[in-house]
Amino acid sequence: YLVKVRHLIYLLTVALVLHAAQLVTTYSFKNCNTAHSENKTFICHRRREENVSAIVSDLPSSAINLRICFNYIEHIPNQSFTHLPNLTQLSLDQNNISTLDERAFQNLQQLQMLNLTLNSISHLEPLLFQDLHNLRHLALAQNKIKVLPGHIFSTTLKLKMLILEENYLFDFSQIVSSVSHLQSLTTIKLSLNKLTSLEHSNASLPRSLSNLYVRRNNLSSLGCRQSFLSHLQYLDLSFNPRLSTDAFQGVDLAQLNHLSLQATNVNIIHFLNISNISANSVDFSGTGLNNDSRLEEFCKVLGRKVDNVTNLTLKSNGIHRLSSTSLQYCPKYIEKLDLIKVFEAEHNNLKQLEFCRGQRPFKNLKYLSYRYNYILIVEDYAFHPTPNLVNLSLNINRIAWFGRNALHGLTKLKNLRLDNNLLTDLYRETFQNLLNLETLNLASNRISVIFNNTFKSLRNLKTLDLGDNKITHIEKQGLHGLASLSKLFLNDNNLKEIDTSLYYAFSDKLKVLSLESNLVRFLSRTTSSPFINLSQLTELNLGRQQPFGLTLLPRNFFRGLHSLKSLHLTNNHISHLAPDAFDDLTELDFLNLEYCCVGGVQLQSGVFKNLRNLTRLIVENMGLQNFSNKVFGNLTKLQSLQLNRNVMHSIDVDTLESLKNLKYMDIRGVPLTCNCENSLLQNWTINNPSVQVVYLLDHPCQDSTKDRFYNFPTNVCYVDLGQFLCFTTAAVIFLFTVVPIVFVKLYWTLKYSYFVFRAWFSEQWRRLRDEEENCVYDAFISYNFSDEQWVFEQLVPNLEGNGSSFKLCLHHRDFEVGRNIVDNIVSAVYSSRKTICVVSRNFLQSEWCSLEIQLASYRLFDEHRDVLLLVFLESITERQMSYYHRMRKVMLKKTYLQWPGSDCTDPAQAQKLFWSQLRRAMKANSQCETESGDSPHNRAQHSESEMSDDTQYLLP
Ligand SMILES: *[C@@H]1O[C@H](CO)[C@@H](O)[C@H](O)[C@H]1NC(C)=O
Ligand SMILES: *[C@@H]1O[C@H](CO)[C@@H](O)[C@H](O)[C@H]1NC(C)=O
Ligand SMILES: *[C@@H]1O[C@H](CO)[C@@H](O)[C@H](O)[C@H]1NC(C)=O
Ligand SMILES: *[C@@H]1O[C@H](CO)[C@@H](O)[C@H](O)[C@H]1NC(C)=O
Repeated sequence: YLVKVRHLIYLLTVALVLHAAQLVTTYSFKNCNTAHSENKTFICHRRREENVSAIVSDLPSSAINLRICFNYIEHIPNQSFTHLPNLTQLSLDQNNISTLDERAFQNLQQLQMLNLTLNSISHLEPLLFQDLHNLRHLALAQNKIKVLPGHIFSTTLKLKMLILEENYLFDFSQIVSSVSHLQSLTTIKLSLNKLTSLEHSNASLPRSLSNLYVRRNNLSSLGCRQSFLSHLQYLDLSFNPRLSTDAFQGVDLAQLNHLSLQATNVNIIHFLNISNISANSVDFSGTGLNNDSRLEEFCKVLGRKVDNVTNLTLKSNGIHRLSSTSLQYCPKYIEKLDLIKVFEAEHNNLKQLEFCRGQRPFKNLKYLSYRYNYILIVEDYAFHPTPNLVNLSLNINRIAWFGRNALHGLTKLKNLRLDNNLLTDLYRETFQNLLNLETLNLASNRISVIFNNTFKSLRNLKTLDLGDNKITHIEKQGLHGLASLSKLFLNDNNLKEIDTSLYYAFSDKLKVLSLESNLVRFLSRTTSSPFINLSQLTELNLGRQQPFGLTLLPRNFFRGLHSLKSLHLTNNHISHLAPDAFDDLTELDFLNLEYCCVGGVQLQSGVFKNLRNLTRLIVENMGLQNFSNKVFGNLTKLQSLQLNRNVMHSIDVDTLESLKNLKYMDIRGVPLTCNCENSLLQNWTINNPSVQVVYLLDHPCQDSTKDRFYNFPTNVCYVDLGQFLCFTTAAVIFLFTVVPIVFVKLYWTLKYSYFVFRAWFSEQWRRLRDEEENCVYDAFISYNFSDEQWVFEQLVPNLEGNGSSFKLCLHHRDFEVGRNIVDNIVSAVYSSRKTICVVSRNFLQSEWCSLEIQLASYRLFDEHRDVLLLVFLESITERQMSYYHRMRKVMLKKTYLQWPGSDCTDPAQAQKLFWSQLRRAMKANSQCETESGDSPHNRAQHSESEMSDDTQYLLP
């Protein structure tokens, strides 16, 4: 029966739990992740999943953006996304998709962007896109498509951008016929295909098309009507080595504003002669203009063109020298060359920028780029002819020698890029004229010292990038003059300390300061804050100090940073974070402590107490052992929390609940145990519709390999109705089966116990009533009826009379009439100093006598009161006594008196001794502690009068 009940209850519980499981409203997805919940963007990244439905099945129907990438999906079955009707962007890039069923995208009426880049698609079903009425952007790049089915775009009428790069397309005509009706199409990218011609006879490109990319195909001719490209603005024909000048004969290119002919077989000079294109629209990069005679010829042609040249792009022409020879021919032929605004000579072989003072000026030149050359030397006055430059890019060269006057005269310059060169020293004169410079990029050079006043004239500079140099020292006035500076990058240098005085120069303008990856290390806790004046600083990066890390965070280190919004302290081996370290950072929005500390540093109570505006916190891999309210409880604005890879076994749910704005929590790598300690956490994570727990369904149990955290069994943890019922049933059954048996078997034991209990109870009760305990009798005589004669003839006269004045309690004389005999015995035993048992064989057989002994011996044993006196009238052997277990115990413990019967040698003398022994025993060890000096009798009298009112029932 028991087993059955238990089984039933178990089933009941399981049913309840299963029912609850269906109500789970978890906000965590099996294979996806959403960092920006309000925009409903889901990323399902590197999940090694083959089945697309397994990825998307648990996404909410409100999803808007979805990206599934780096998975092993090969096939997209029909109706894969029908439950996501509001999708507007869908990326399935970088999977291994080879086949898509015809209705794979069914129901995606809202879809605007579909990205299928980098898959293995070779065949497209003709009706694949039929539901995508709103599609604007379709990327099919890097697949294996040979042919576009004729009507594949018949319903995607809003398509603007079609990307088909890196496929095996060979038939341009067929592409045109499938897109010719798309009146919104502006861009087609067909680079890296197998087109040999742009011929298309039966249809025409839509008039809306303005950009066509046909780079790196195998074009040899354009082969079509002369006007077919007349609406285009941007045409990239580069890297079609078989394309020759003849292909352009008579083709209308007047509308083009960009034509790229790099690495074709086109003779650029011949082309300029025969084409109606504006010279400004031609990108001359890679057109073989690499020697003086070609450049001279080129200039002649440019001079004949009717329009003014404003942009000259000469990238990748293999030009070695520019200023003193080649281009000097141009002005001879074209007065208007000085109208050039943009000049790009990137990717050439320039090695030196020469002294140019006195040369013909290019007054209109504003944008000049010599990126990607091999420039080693920039001589003084190299930019003398271009005094109005706004942007100058000299980055990615090998500049090691930079004339102190090289930049002389560039007062209009706003942006200067000198990054990725080999500069070692900066001189004050170098930047002297650059009064309007706003951005100076000197990153990735070999600068080691910033001398005094180097930047003194740059009072309009806003951004200074000195990152990735070898700076070990900044002189006291090294940063003087930078009155407008708002961003300073000193990352990846060799600075050993943060000099307080330096930053004084731009106290209230500086907003961003990066000191990441230097050699800063603190060994003392008492450095004053170097940032005390930077009251406007919003971003500070101190991460990754080499090689030891910051080691210590001095007290008050961040004092004064009242505007700071973002602070990075990652990778720093900090061993102690003072509880007041972040106290001034009341505006902080983002705090990154990832790997900041030596493993096991514990965050102290209240360390985040002032970060009331913090919305994002990363405490990844800090060795945190717990997640407590005292540390994290104040972060009420926190939205995103990354707790990954800490060592806590549980996370306090009350603390989580105090983070009222939490939306995103990453606990990957936290070794949560799957036991009752975490049952509340489990419940919180799976039933919380507002907090996304990243990949919760994957989270393993620390202590078991087969369970997952989200579903380890927790029913044992709650007060279980089943168990409760089980125990009650068991108890009832026990009562009904065991109790009767016990009752029958132990009837007498129970009965005695009952009386003993009553006796004890009334004793306690009496004590409550009377502060002081009083005895009425000196002795209660317990005897058997058959021994009555001895009692009255011997005992009473010898103890009550005969010079002794003991007061005895005899049941037939002193027991209250009409009262329960048991009560009488109990009260007699308890109101007498001693209990004298007159033991005979008859006595031992009497039930009432036994009770009396029980009571008295109970007092002897359990109250440690010596109340029992045994008087043996007959000699009784040990064996006879063994029936009376308790009696034996008493006898072993006590001595007893043997009545000297008439068979003694001198009964009179023996009896005299007997009585005197008995009297002495009665006087010893009074059970009732009363004031000393009173005679027993007086005491009894005294007690009697005192008790007469309220304890009458005890009295006979
Ligand atoms: C959500 O989308 C809006 C409009 O596209 C954008 O301005 C906003 O920054 C996005 N929010 C997030 C958190 O990405
Ligand atoms: C889809 O978007 C519309 C308009 O924003 C909205 O009313 C509807 O509730 C969305 N559907 C779902 C399933 O979220
Ligand atoms: C499509 O995916 C490719 C590959 O990941 C990516 O480079 C490209 O930017 C994506 N296109 C769009 C429009 O998101
Ligand atoms: C060329 O520049 C000159 C001088 O600035 C100007 O007068 C003329 O209108 C320009 N011609 C064209 C076609 O832009």
